[in-house]
Amino acid sequence: MRTGETWIADELAARRSSGLERTLIVRSGTGPRVTVGGRLLLNVSGNDYLGLAQHPHVVARAKACLDEFGACATASRLVVGTLACHEELEARLAGLKGYPAALSFGSGYAANLGLISAIVGRDDRVLIDRLAHASLVDGAVLSRARLQRFRHNDAGHLASLLARCPAGRRKLVVTESVFSMDGDCAPLRELAAAAERHGALLLVDEAHATGVFGPSGSGCIRAAGLEDRVNLSMGTLSKALGSQGGFAACSADLRSLLINQSRSFIYSTALAPAAVGAALGALDVLERDPDRGARLLARAAGVRERLNAAGLDTGASVSQIVPVIVGESERALRVAQYLREAGFLAVAIRPPTVPQGTARLRLSLSYDHTEAELAALTAAVIAAFKEAERA
Ligand SMILES: Cc1ncc(COP(=O)(O)O)c(C=O)c1O
Repeated sequence: MRTGETWIADELAARRSSGLERTLIVRSGTGPRVTVGGRLLLNVSGNDYLGLAQHPHVVARAKACLDEFGACATASRLVVGTLACHEELEARLAGLKGYPAALSFGSGYAANLGLISAIVGRDDRVLIDRLAHASLVDGAVLSRARLQRFRHNDAGHLASLLARCPAGRRKLVVTESVFSMDGDCAPLRELAAAAERHGALLLVDEAHATGVFGPSGSGCIRAAGLEDRVNLSMGTLSKALGSQGGFAACSADLRSLLINQSRSFIYSTALAPAAVGAALGALDVLERDPDRGARLLARAAGVRERLNAAGLDTGASVSQIVPVIVGESERALRVAQYLREAGFLAVAIRPPTVPQGTARLRLSLSYDHTEAELAALTAAVIAAFKEAERA
């Protein structure tokens, strides 16, 4: 054992004994049918919501960008990393989202770090939904602003915290539009009203809404007509758009500020050309087939209905993310293992990703799952819960 590492084994053992150790699953194959440990499984844990990661047009555009610009952008955007394809992608994303401008980042995680830390600093306030993604919390930590959590989807609680913020300092309200682990939606109109009343900026993370909700998959902000009331519409290329990277749509001035002040934008190599090409290809597909997201949502509603009819708790989900709440971590692992044996790759999500006592299966549905596969999945989940009860 190397010097200074004695504590590591103890820490791992503690995690193992409480059912919280995480390990990597090695899979092969693309699309929803994957091979793990030599077995073919239906993947219901990925975020390729629209089945675009292996769509022929998406792959072809990724290859075209690779051929034209090479494997790497070779520098950060502010040095010599800005390519014509970055500008094209950002114009297309701005158009989709209904904003004057957009800026891309190396990942959605990097986007959230860079957005929050660019617009608030020491002595400012960040008010964040209690269930918001770790990248948003980390952005607030990096900013050194004071972080306060408001109760999940509770605009009244947000307003009461805003009312107590000191005058003369910037305030930033942060939420997701579709929550990653619960699949429910934020009351964006009420949150925007509270932010406006107290002179706060509003950032909405549309990682799980982009491509699925709103006209042509433009997201929940556009669906609610709130483009003029949400300052930063954040999104990721790495989920429904089947590529890799993050972005924010905003005003032209805010984009210029981000270019100047966003650390994860300035100090990181520009998005790889192949990722840019894949995202452009995904936007082409959305333009040609604008209802993919709506069709996926209709299928997800069917899955929820069947699970609820069997007495299972899918929380407040209204999206393609269908949590099935188990409670205790060990039990969630048992349910996931049973499903694995039945041919489904449904990963158990445990604390600290979700609050204590709310471990769950996170079923992540994709446009590529057939109706027959979804019916088989629902039956297997119901059987897995019965089995876990008996154990
Ligand atoms: C709500 C939310 N925001 C941001 C991210 C980060 O996006 P990316 O995977 O592109 O880094 C995720 C990813 O899990 C997410 O769920």
